[in-house]
Parts: sequence; C-alpha cells; structure tokens
Amino acid sequence: MKPGNHCLSERCQFQLNPRFREMRGEANLFRFLDRNHLFFRRRGFFIQGCGNLIRLQNLTKTFAGKDEVRALTGISLEIPAGQIYGIIGPSGAGKSTLLRCINMLERPDSGEVWVADTLMNGLGPQELRSARKKMGMIFQHFNLLNSRTVSGNIAFPLELAGTDKRVMRRRVEELAELVGLTDKLQAYPHQLSGGQKQRVGIARALATEPTVLLCDEPTSALDPETTSSVLELLQDINEKLQLTIVLVTHEMAVIQEVCHSVAVLEDGRLKEAGPVVEVFTRPKSEAAQRLLQGFLSARFEVSRQSPDGTLIRLTFLEERANQPIISKLIRSHQVDVNILFGRIDQMKGAPFGTLMVELAGPPEQKAAAMEFLEANGVGVEVMER
Ligand SMILES: Nc1ncnc2c1ncn2[C@@H]1O[C@H](COP(=O)(O)OP(=O)(O)OP(=O)(O)O)[C@@H](O)[C@H]1O
Ligand SMILES: [Mg+2]
Repeated sequence: MKPGNHCLSERCQFQLNPRFREMRGEANLFRFLDRNHLFFRRRGFFIQGCGNLIRLQNLTKTFAGKDEVRALTGISLEIPAGQIYGIIGPSGAGKSTLLRCINMLERPDSGEVWVADTLMNGLGPQELRSARKKMGMIFQHFNLLNSRTVSGNIAFPLELAGTDKRVMRRRVEELAELVGLTDKLQAYPHQLSGGQKQRVGIARALATEPTVLLCDEPTSALDPETTSSVLELLQDINEKLQLTIVLVTHEMAVIQEVCHSVAVLEDGRLKEAGPVVEVFTRPKSEAAQRLLQGFLSARFEVSRQSPDGTLIRLTFLEERANQPIISKLIRSHQVDVNILFGRIDQMKGAPFGTLMVELAGPPEQKAAAMEFLEANGVGVEVMER
C-alpha cells in the first residue's frame, strides 16, 4: 500500500493481528486505538479508508496594520489522513500562518478549513476549544513552562481538560515512555537538552490524543544528530498511531527524510504540491526548482567542466535505475556525456538515483537528448546552460 493511502481500517488489522503486538509501545498503542476507534468510525474513516483529513479551500489571510501584509492568497490544499505532509518555502512565505489557520490560531479572512467533517471556521468558541484538543501543536522553541517539571508540562493540557488525577498520572507515564523520557519526569526544562525539550513538546502535544499533529519548524533549533532523532520519533508516532502530521520547515533534507507529500509556498501562494518523490525528481514550479537547486548544489558541489557544456541533473526512480539509458543515449544521439557525480538517496524509504552530467554537442542534439531522457522516464533538470 502506498504511503498516504493508509486505510484507517488498517487500525482493525492492528488490533486483530498478533504479529503487531511485538511492536514497541504496544500497550499504549492499543489503548489509543481502542479509545479512538469510535471517533474515527463516526467520521466515516473506516469506510472512506484513504480520504483527506484536512482540506483547505481558497484560503486568504491579510494582516492589517500600517503596512498591510497579504500572508496567504487563494490556498487550496488537501492533506491525506495518515501522512506526514511537509510545507516548505522561504522565510515569509506564509508557512506558519497557513499552519496556524488549520487550528484557527489565525482566522483566515476567507476560504474554508475542513478537518475531517468539521468546518473549523464555522465553529463557535466552545466547539473550537474541543476541536483543538484533537490537534496537537509543537514549536521551534518548544514553548515549555519553565516552572514545571517534564511531568507537569506533559500534564498541562490534561489539567486544562479536567482529567481525573489517576488517569492523568497514567497517561503522563505512557507518553513519557513513548517519547523516551521516563527517567526525566521530575527534571525541569533548563536541565534538558534541546532534543529532550522537543520530546516533552511532542508528548504534551499528544496528551489529548489528537488526530493531527501540527509542527512548526520542530527541528530548526536542533543540531543535525538531534534533528535525526526527533524526526525518527515523529515517523514512529506517525506509523504506530497513524497520526497525520503537518510539518512546516525550511529544510529540504527534513522533507526528503520524513514526508510523504509536500506543498511549496512562496509569497503566500501555493506553487506546487504532491508526493515528495515527484516534486523532488520532477519539480514543475520555478519555486520548487529554486529550492531544489539550492539544496542539491549545496550537496553535490559540481560545476561545468567546459564552457559550452550543459550541466544537467538526472533522477532515476527505482524501476528505471537498472536500465542502460545513458549508453542508449550516447548510441542514439550525437552528444558527449560526461558523468560528474552520482549517488543513490532514500526518499521515505524508496531509493532514487541522481546523476549530475554534462552534455556537450550541438544545441539541437542536446535538446533532443534531454527529450529522449524524459521520454524514458528520467527526470531532467538543467542546472547550468
Ligand atoms: N501577526 C502578524 N502581524 C503582521 N504580519 C504578520 C504576522 N504574522 C505573520 N506576518 C507576516 O506574514 C507573512 C508570512 O509570515 P509567516 O510567519 O507565515 O511566514 P513563514 O513562511 O512562516 O516564515 P519563516 O520561515 O520566517 O518562519 C510575513 O510577511 C510576516 O511578516
Ligand atoms: Mg514560520
């Protein structure tokens, strides 16, 4: 089954199939599933299977003031249930504003925000409060309460919800175990590393058993190693709890590592959206191409070898990787192909290959060669003409 097409009916298999009982956190997981089964059933997820959990329709948001800022313009987006959905774009693109419109921390001027079958901008204050309990949020700078211990921070949303003390204690212990902080329950935020603080943030966000986790730059304040461990935890949660995660970031590497799909924002507009593997290998919009170019050139560090050569990036998905396309190209076209760099990456578990090559030859032959490659299912992107 493709990522993002996880039927929520898989939850039933989870409950029935004893094989899954070996999974880590099994007790917590099954309790979570049992408790939420009715919630999902009522919303028709078991019947729809692979529906969209979040639908944004034509969202517009302007910040009034001396200099009015149009932060979002006509954004329509569908986020499938069970996915990790990335939102990327340069600073000021409107990523945080878009994320905050999902739980109505920002009210859009116009347009609709649907979460499951609920029109979020149609809710009154009390309904909105209870809808928000189903949407956890984590932040770049963790936003922990410094005067409270780890335990107190995780318990905070449960206290607000008036949860029974015994239930609350048990839930805090379960969550601490889930995020690997059982031995830190009595520590205060200043006694924790950045990664541990974010784990507290994640546990706190999961306290009210949300169906969606909204993450605003969750790893931007962390070093690369800690980033990896927090991303691993988010993936773990996504897979085990089938929690839908919307993840705002400006780091392409984060998108590549954990997201199923991605939306590219620029100047408050949606430039492109789709499965990560498609956007990364065949970016259609200039905005996505720009982001990728920066990302890839930073990692590949290759440049043209001859002044009239054309530097191109070729991407091969798994099924194409075994075919001798380059030798076919050289035989069938009058071009020289100079291979400068090659690597195989993983994108959400699926391998894809990248080759940086320089084409030399008459311009019309180079154009024909690129057409040939594209016709054979290879992604072609011109890096330097
Ligand atoms: N509360 C606010 N009042 C006025 N303008 C705002 C407010 N919040 C955001 N903006 C403006 O809206 C635009 C989008 O901001 P937003 O924070 O959504 O961008 P972003 O993509 O998250 O950027 P970054 O990557 O820097 O976090 C920016 O021009 C910003 O200055
Ligand atoms: Mg932001």
